[in-house]
Amino acid sequence: MSYFDRLKKMVSAFLPGAASRGGEPGETDSGGVSGLPNIHVLATGGTIAGGRAEAGAGTVYTAGVLGVEALLAAVPAVRAIANIGNEQIVSVGSQDMDESIWLKLARRVNELLARNDIDGVVITHGTDTLEETAYFLDLTVKSDKPVVLVGAMRPAHAAGTDGPANLFDAIVVASSRDSAARGVLVAMSGNVFEARDVTKVSTTASQAFAAPNFGPLGQVHDGRVIYWRRSERASAHRINFDISGLENLPPVGIVYGHVNAPALLVKTLVEAQYQGIVSAGVGNGNLYYKVLGALADAASRGIAVVRSSRVAAGPTIRGVELDDTRYGFAAAGTLNPQKARVLLQLALTRTRDAGEIQKMFDYC
Ligand code: SIN
Repeated sequence: MSYFDRLKKMVSAFLPGAASRGGEPGETDSGGVSGLPNIHVLATGGTIAGGRAEAGAGTVYTAGVLGVEALLAAVPAVRAIANIGNEQIVSVGSQDMDESIWLKLARRVNELLARNDIDGVVITHGTDTLEETAYFLDLTVKSDKPVVLVGAMRPAHAAGTDGPANLFDAIVVASSRDSAARGVLVAMSGNVFEARDVTKVSTTASQAFAAPNFGPLGQVHDGRVIYWRRSERASAHRINFDISGLENLPPVGIVYGHVNAPALLVKTLVEAQYQGIVSAGVGNGNLYYKVLGALADAASRGIAVVRSSRVAAGPTIRGVELDDTRYGFAAAGTLNPQKARVLLQLALTRTRDAGEIQKMFDYC
């Protein structure tokens, strides 16, 4: 038995999904190894696929220049864990992620996971907006099979690049049956996070992700994933939005709260016919009185208004310092403003009723 086969057997023993398939590894009809899960890697770009534009350009790099094959070539050990399919969806820095890519990605993930011969999906993504894509997929993917997003803080050519280790971990997570029915997951720096709570907390550190309200769900170590807890939101109360007939999403903007904040931004969104506004308020989602007036006016015109907070952790609670019922607002709970925006866009595909929207924020 070759070293590679021994490694394959050893790692397979730790993976519930693989173990349950039983039997000795051998080629399947489709060219994969029987007994291993089939994981499809969808690539979208980002620093994990980042490279130098030209030799000797220092730390300057361009996100999304390496293709999915190159990313997988850097982690040959994953072949011992899963049969890997791959596909390049787009090649963008995630600052350029948009709703048409989200819709394409969600449809493709739903198509793939509906197949009996696919056990899980891994998505490589830039870290800047990874949390928003993860939450969008969390709300729109109709499958309990694992979906795992992964990125990197250092491009492929950098010393100490974290891309290959993170990608290896993501494939381990997607290959484990224990990852099923947990909602969309994010694998970064040895941690596994739920899409709903995870957020980028550092612009440059390699430990750039955290779940500020509830902490990680588990950890990946030596080719094994270990979970400590299950998210109540991802299982019992999950709402799934149907995006099959959508070509775009309702426009929703975010206004940032600060001392002396002007009403101008709210008024601009109203004039631009935005259907929803999320406030990144101060403290428990509080609002400078001029912004409060402009948002109350927007709500009275049928624009959905959701109060979130610029504070990194803790819920924005309904009706504590501000009478949301009186103003027709909803409160975001523990969703940060950028995630509240994602949920509000999807909520608006179903309803404009403030009470119904509040229920979705209470359950999603
Ligand atoms: C991006 O989000 O595409 C660039 C930054 C990164 O991936 O870390």
